Amino acid sequence: MDKSQPTLADLIDLRLDRRGLIRGAAALAAASPFAAVAQEAGPSSLTFKELAHTLDDKQHVADGYDMQVLIRWGDPVMADAPAFNAANQTAAAQEKQFGYNNDYLGLYPLPYGSKGADRFLLVANHEYVNPNLMFAGLGSGRDSNLKASKEQAEVLMAAVGGAVIEIVHEAGAWKVVAGSKYARRLSANTAMEISGPAAGHDKLKTNADPGGRKVFGTFANCAGGSTPWGTWLTCEENFHTYFGGDASKLPDVALAKRYGLGRSAYGWDRFVDRFNTDKEPNEPNRFGWVVEIDPYEPQSVPVKRTALGRFCHEGCTYTLAKDGRVVFYSGDDARFEYVYKFVTARPWNPTDRVANKNLLDEGTLSAARFEADGKLTWLPLVHGQGPLTAANGFADQGDVVINARRAADLVKATPMDRPEDIETNPVNGRVYVVLTNNGRRKPEQVDKANPRAVNDHGHILELAPKDGDHGSAEAAWSIFLLAGKPGQDAGARYHRATSDQGWLSCPDNIAFDSKGRIWIVTDGAPVAAGVADGVYGADTMGYGRALTRCFYQAPTGAEVCGPIFTPDDRTFFLAVQHPGEDRGSTFEKPSTRWPDFKPDVPPRPAVVAITRKGGGPIGS
Ligand code: FEO
Ligand code: CA
Ligand code: CA
Repeated sequence: MDKSQPTLADLIDLRLDRRGLIRGAAALAAASPFAAVAQEAGPSSLTFKELAHTLDDKQHVADGYDMQVLIRWGDPVMADAPAFNAANQTAAAQEKQFGYNNDYLGLYPLPYGSKGADRFLLVANHEYVNPNLMFAGLGSGRDSNLKASKEQAEVLMAAVGGAVIEIVHEAGAWKVVAGSKYARRLSANTAMEISGPAAGHDKLKTNADPGGRKVFGTFANCAGGSTPWGTWLTCEENFHTYFGGDASKLPDVALAKRYGLGRSAYGWDRFVDRFNTDKEPNEPNRFGWVVEIDPYEPQSVPVKRTALGRFCHEGCTYTLAKDGRVVFYSGDDARFEYVYKFVTARPWNPTDRVANKNLLDEGTLSAARFEADGKLTWLPLVHGQGPLTAANGFADQGDVVINARRAADLVKATPMDRPEDIETNPVNGRVYVVLTNNGRRKPEQVDKANPRAVNDHGHILELAPKDGDHGSAEAAWSIFLLAGKPGQDAGARYHRATSDQGWLSCPDNIAFDSKGRIWIVTDGAPVAAGVADGVYGADTMGYGRALTRCFYQAPTGAEVCGPIFTPDDRTFFLAVQHPGEDRGSTFEKPSTRWPDFKPDVPPRPAVVAITRKGGGPIGS
């Protein structure tokens, strides 16, 4: 997607004058969303008939739209992949089949450099696994995931990571191109390189890799992003849950504690030494990075780009500074963690793709401080600057990026309510920061940017970079919406015309269509209220600003991830993750068997393509 065009913010200085002086009615009417969530009762630009909140074993979309399941867990990716057989899974088969729990989706037009209409590479993250829904006999509950056998654990290691498939729109439907030369699977076993300031660092050296520059695998791949030169960024989020061992015995206990180590969710440490920190204490330091992959080069070696910092990266999305340097926004999805950006040292080269190959190895990582007066300051995390010195335990920039969380603590960034997706609106140039929830914020910890204690429903902030330049060290911020049910959940705030079906909870990923409208997907809808996770669309400007409308509801247990539009807005892809992940749900008796609904087939995470009946852009 071209995010390089001049933005509205380039044309009009939209910053709210916080003494109350609005710079003219024209600026207000044209695009001054900071003036407040619009209170005019004008219509939304979205004309679809709003879907009612639902919660059952199926997916639902607004009237007038079709849903197609494009690819499911276990479907063939590689040319020689066997067909899915739930009763006879093997690691060798899974390494060639679509992985589990699809999250981020990216579209890369074929051929490279074309505008993209009907043929793409589609990349998908496979974030984590639900062993008790994948295999018979494991029961339910957290401990069930620790019961997988060695053979089953090997299937699980092959089921995480990511996939590249080629897709084509033919005869009114999307198809996966069988035997594509671009097809690829990445897993916990894929050989990767480490680059940037932490490459070769003592804290990244292991028995298997004494040089600290080579690592096997990627996992916990939540959301991601792309680059202007057409590579895929897959982000390692909750990597700490993959390691077992006694965290109190690690060489740097404070570092281990800050990154949540010490409790394995899957028990892989029972079988493989590198997942056991008693045996490989530095292995966790080799995860929590942004991994760059070239989907156009299936033989290329993925690279962990350590300059972008180590934390629970939700995603990593780009836009351009005015001088052509590339700016990446990334959230650290944990309670009281930070919002980051990385600005490359050099502009990207649009005419020589290869020249951008290592652009992500040099640049400045910063963390955000949200001031009470609506100003945002980007605080550089640069070794030798401010408190980031040897006296404070940072011997070099490698130390800074490995413990980016502590570096951000020391520069006094603002602890946020679980930063998820951060994306730039291609029309107005604003940056939208999704904060999913934080039930642990206490009343005395409330601040202007995280304004609710026990924030169970989350909120979305909007940033306007100073002078419309994403390379600037300053921005203005405001609240776009406060989620929850209006009238019931304290502080919930949308457009006043938001309907009983239009409110949402726990926003996670977002996408913008080419009109600059925001599409919000959720992870954590209140099931007690009969609401499934889903998709909500809203204008970001004009009368319909923050007038969220329900467009899609997922099957029970599922969250919705990976929203992305084709450039013509005619197809909206979603990744439906962990269907059936409900309390008490098991392989034998799952809460849903979506999407197959066959008695011997468990629920399967899948990618869904939504199109308008008869064609046309999504939403209106
Ligand atoms: Fe994997 Fe932040 O959701
Ligand atoms: Ca997410
Ligand atoms: Ca989430």
